[in-house]
Amino acid sequence: MSRITDLGIDLGTSNVLIYGRNRGIIFKAPAVIALNRDTNAVIAIGEDAHKMLGRAPGSIIVKRPLKGGIAGKNLALVGAMLLHFVIEANGKHIFQGPRVIMSVPPALNETERRAITASLFESGARRTQIISRPIAAALGADLPIGETYGEMIVDIGGSITDIAVISMGACVINESLPIGGDSFDEAIIRYVRRKHNLLIGEITAEEIKTRIGSVMPRRDPLYLDITGRDLLSGLPKTLRITSDEVLEALDDPLQELIEVIHSVLERTPAELAADIFDTGIVFSGGGALLEGLSDAVSIALKINCRIADSPQECIARGCGLTMEKFNEYSRYLVSSRKKNRGVQ
Ligand SMILES: Nc1ncnc2c1ncn2[C@@H]1O[C@H](COP(=O)(O)OP(=O)(O)O)[C@@H](O)[C@H]1O
Ligand SMILES: [Mg+2]
Repeated sequence: MSRITDLGIDLGTSNVLIYGRNRGIIFKAPAVIALNRDTNAVIAIGEDAHKMLGRAPGSIIVKRPLKGGIAGKNLALVGAMLLHFVIEANGKHIFQGPRVIMSVPPALNETERRAITASLFESGARRTQIISRPIAAALGADLPIGETYGEMIVDIGGSITDIAVISMGACVINESLPIGGDSFDEAIIRYVRRKHNLLIGEITAEEIKTRIGSVMPRRDPLYLDITGRDLLSGLPKTLRITSDEVLEALDDPLQELIEVIHSVLERTPAELAADIFDTGIVFSGGGALLEGLSDAVSIALKINCRIADSPQECIARGCGLTMEKFNEYSRYLVSSRKKNRGVQ
């Protein structure tokens, strides 16, 4: 069994990342779960379930339980999935259990948050504290958020983008939008269907995006052979798609993203907006890895943009750093819950 480690957890809509105190990122898995349609028994969790997306027979449901609201039945699934990941990463420690600092999607209300943190008790976690996503992302990106200076962080996840303006360690503006990496995948699916009459799945679309996708023109165009179902014949068909086509396909969600960042900047108090124009916008989250994204936003809004180091790890790292530098950073925590003692 692995040794006891305090944990920082990024419970994302697409991926769960776990940071071990003084160890760095120790675990990453897709937030996907596969269930038997009739009995609801869990068949696979994480990587194994992800492989079944779009490929499972009708008797199996494969879902991302955190995507698009977590009401009802999905809440128990999220708890089960999280518990499974924590035990896989850190073992089970009923005595002397680990402490956890976790970042959860903003749509969760207090009751849902409690239910999810309670599920960790079974791994032995003796205390779970919550930190907001943008604050964790900013700490993970090494932004000096405690200063009297405005910083903007844009975390692009799978199905949510969090845009925040932070000053003196708190969010002055904190907006969550239902746009994310998935929106870019969906735009590729729509484009390929419209232009080539070819139906492709989300896994193929994501592969197109990560391998040849860019929101800035590429100097040397790339191409990829993709297979889908021809909508005219109903049969499988392979065709070649170019990066120029993908560029065209990605324009709609890109413009939408630029528009919302613009509107947040417009609503930012003048002094803080001036600070942001000075220091620029920082991007985190897996969606920030989309080729050309920060350049495209920078050109459109005439403001410096940069991508944090290892952007997809920022939130988990921010949670972990808060654990490691608890004296300095615990003021950023939202709430905490100890085993059997309710909310503090
Ligand atoms: N190299 C890449 N290029 C473009 N998009 C990427 C890349 N790597 C990951 N992504 C996208 O990042 C998103 C997941 O980001 P992540 O921060 O893990 O999500 P969440 O925080 O919602 O769990 C997905 O939409 C995925 O396609
Ligand atoms: Mg993320």
